Amino acid sequence: MTAMRRATGAAGGARRLEGRLVALGVTGSIAAYKAVELLRLLTAEGADVVVLLSASAARFVGPLSFAALSRHPVETELMELLPDGRIGHVVIADSADAIVVAPATAHWLGAMANGLAGDVVTAACLATSAPVVVAPAMDGDMWTHPATRSNVARLRDAFGYAVVEPGSGPLASGQSGVGRLAELPAIVDAVVAAIGDRPVRQPAVDARPPLVAGLPREADLVGRHVVVTAGGTREPIDPVRYIGNRSSGKMGVAIAEAALDRGASVTLIAADVSVPLPDERARVVRVETTGQLRGALLEALFGGGGGGGAPSPLAARFDALVMAAAVADFTPAAPADRKLARGESLSLELRPTPDLLAEVARIVRGLDGEGSETREPVTPTPLLVGFAAETGSLERAGAKLRAKRLDLLVANDVAEAGSGFGTDTNRVVILDAAGGRDELPLLSKREVADRILDRVAGALDDRDAASQTAGMQEASR
Ligand code: PMT
Repeated sequence: MTAMRRATGAAGGARRLEGRLVALGVTGSIAAYKAVELLRLLTAEGADVVVLLSASAARFVGPLSFAALSRHPVETELMELLPDGRIGHVVIADSADAIVVAPATAHWLGAMANGLAGDVVTAACLATSAPVVVAPAMDGDMWTHPATRSNVARLRDAFGYAVVEPGSGPLASGQSGVGRLAELPAIVDAVVAAIGDRPVRQPAVDARPPLVAGLPREADLVGRHVVVTAGGTREPIDPVRYIGNRSSGKMGVAIAEAALDRGASVTLIAADVSVPLPDERARVVRVETTGQLRGALLEALFGGGGGGGAPSPLAARFDALVMAAAVADFTPAAPADRKLARGESLSLELRPTPDLLAEVARIVRGLDGEGSETREPVTPTPLLVGFAAETGSLERAGAKLRAKRLDLLVANDVAEAGSGFGTDTNRVVILDAAGGRDELPLLSKREVADRILDRVAGALDDRDAASQTAGMQEASR
């Protein structure tokens, strides 16, 4: 399984940089290697981190480590444009909630104090109106030199930068003195304090630095059959009218496309959607109502009715189900077969629809309607992933995961701007059956899809490894 980010910060408390974009400027000191750990601590506090690397810093630590950990391309070249034509350090300057320069060398302090924008870190600091935190690191004599003292004073007093003073101890020169990069938690605290309760500067994904488009996930779903549902079901009132919802299908289609790109064979069951479907690469089944969705689902998963009360274990026809569709919870009890005439008023009797995901989970786990075991679970055990559309709070999501007996539940607040129905972005929390909670920042739906599939691919690999070990133990008896 991939490493999980928890809802707690490094110190175990609430994550203090949730939803923030922090730019980490790294300059050419031996302490540059510590910036990798600083990135990790900022991320653990919930920040989305983008790294600016000076040319000399890149001689100490290569951009690949930073790109892999931050999932953003690393900004190294002042004169290079982003693939979409934007100027990288300006995008960062305009969208970051804070810039932290750590380690900051004596040379960089001098350049910054004089506004010499010869590298991406200085250029971003000059171009930003976000708070800037500077953590110097250098030899002791360099730190006490009047030039450095006056540069630091200018940054602090004239520019309003927060300076996290270096600590004392053994230095790279072999001497001992003041000049060591401050302890990393103190730098994180300074970033949190500098941002304070300022509003998030740029929540729109398009205005933020791009994500690493590459880091193409490996083909880690080859040989897997992934079933995805997308869009909103429509429940007919009469031949003309229906009860529907706002789902566009973007989330479900993004998951189907991401799974295809990772080598899975995909069945996409699409209810009402407003986006193109990958019908050349996936098996696409179109449905309209919850009843039709149920039929298509049982057919794709089990080849029909799910084995009823059959005692023998059912073989799974799928490895994972991701249920992103917005399924109607109620349907008209008696839809009219002719168009209803306009009248004074209209009362509709609605009856609840079956909970499709809970039904699939019961079949997979060999349970009856009351939750008692009636037969062997389906083998090999497929992974069940649900979504939860909540408004205001995601508190009920954990109860949904347990009630529906799911492996993973992706909760989104559909009332939040940029999240949920119809948007190109989503902010989700992934809950798992073991009690884990992975809070993701606002991301494109495609990136959310890949983060979900990272978990799915890892869990399927774990499942196969466990069954292989069990098989070997059985054989050796
Ligand atoms: O399509 P988009 O515009 O991109 O929007 C994406 C989305 C908001 C629709 C998606 O991210 C999402 O949240 N989908 C689930 C919506 C939903 O039905 O949530 P729910 O909390 O009501 O249901 C919980 C889970 O049970 C869901 O996986 C749902 O598919 C499933 N369910 C619900 C009712 C029902 N009768 N049967 C079900 O299987």
